[in-house]
Amino acid sequence: MFTKIIATGSYVPERLVTNDELAGMMETSDEWIRTRTGIRERHLFEDPSAAVGAEAEGTTVSSACIAGERAIHMAEEKGLQRSEIGLCIVATCTPDAVFPATACAVADRLGLSAPAAFDLSLACTGFLAAFNTAAIYLSSGMYKNALIIGVDVMSKLLDMSDRSTSILFGDGAGALVLTSDTRFREGSDSGVLKALLRTDGSRGGVLSCRSAYLNGPEASAMHMDGRAVFEFAVREVPRLITELLDGQPEPELYILHQANYRILEAVAKRLRQPMDRFPHNIERYANTTAATIPLLLDELMREGRLHDGDTTVMAGFGAGLSLGGVLLRL
Ligand code: UT7
Repeated sequence: MFTKIIATGSYVPERLVTNDELAGMMETSDEWIRTRTGIRERHLFEDPSAAVGAEAEGTTVSSACIAGERAIHMAEEKGLQRSEIGLCIVATCTPDAVFPATACAVADRLGLSAPAAFDLSLACTGFLAAFNTAAIYLSSGMYKNALIIGVDVMSKLLDMSDRSTSILFGDGAGALVLTSDTRFREGSDSGVLKALLRTDGSRGGVLSCRSAYLNGPEASAMHMDGRAVFEFAVREVPRLITELLDGQPEPELYILHQANYRILEAVAKRLRQPMDRFPHNIERYANTTAATIPLLLDELMREGRLHDGDTTVMAGFGAGLSLGGVLLRL
């Protein structure tokens, strides 16, 4: 079934926070953060609970809208009208409200006409869950075009007195427009070749955050066994990718969730692939949870690195514990 990413967009808040700035706030150093994670800097809202101006109605909705508008603008330049987008899925674990869903506000603000709109929550694997769900809707013929957004305002959750988690995350949003309309075929037979999602809920305690909305302010601190998540990713992501490929030729690009540069290196090594097939931007944005993959896709699209007909693997992993992947012909 023909399915193609025809447009992308992204957004990060203006405020840049370097490792040195964090080192002024807690017992850490630029050297420790860079060598353990690859991160040099991240973008964070100053105080997401006191958002003003364009963010007045919430930083998650506004970030998603800016990224979404940029993706729709690119789609319009290619000849797809926003009124043709019938499905809007937002992946986030940091919504502005328990309800209504982020996607409902985003679809309204972006002027989509009567779309199906809902959120998916699978933390760092959320974008893959959204992508695979949208691809299934499109292949069923129920919708022709979808707007998919991964957005997380991690600064809502960060405890700046916990150096083991607060240095890892950033705020951001990435969006893409996926189409099954064959008028965009342009010769290449784009489509999803295989998609997978996996969870092991018995290990949910390894990475968790109980909602302060529902459980009181004490419940909002993030708990993470970093070493366990690291080992899970390094062991399971290569397995997932091997299963996705199932004897198919090596893809040109491996677009992985950006959690730690050392995870990317370890996965590349296990798959015996060179690092230049693993694009990365974790050094500039840190881990933006559901936004890492679409943020990276947007950069690759704008740099002209997503070539029609190439194959790519996208893979996410994280809280759940969960894993998601797709093998896609661009
Ligand atoms: O999207 C999924 C979200 N989560 C992740 O991706 C996390 C994956 N895990 C990781 O990225 C790595 O495990 C970390 C970067 C979190 C930690 O790296 P590590 O090499 O596994 O370090 P560690 O946890 O074994 O800690 C080593 C030491 C400890 O000190 P002691 O006990 O050896 O004295 C920590 O207290 O480093 C200490 N430490 C720090 N030191 C300076 C922990 N955080 C910091 C810090 N600055 N920010």
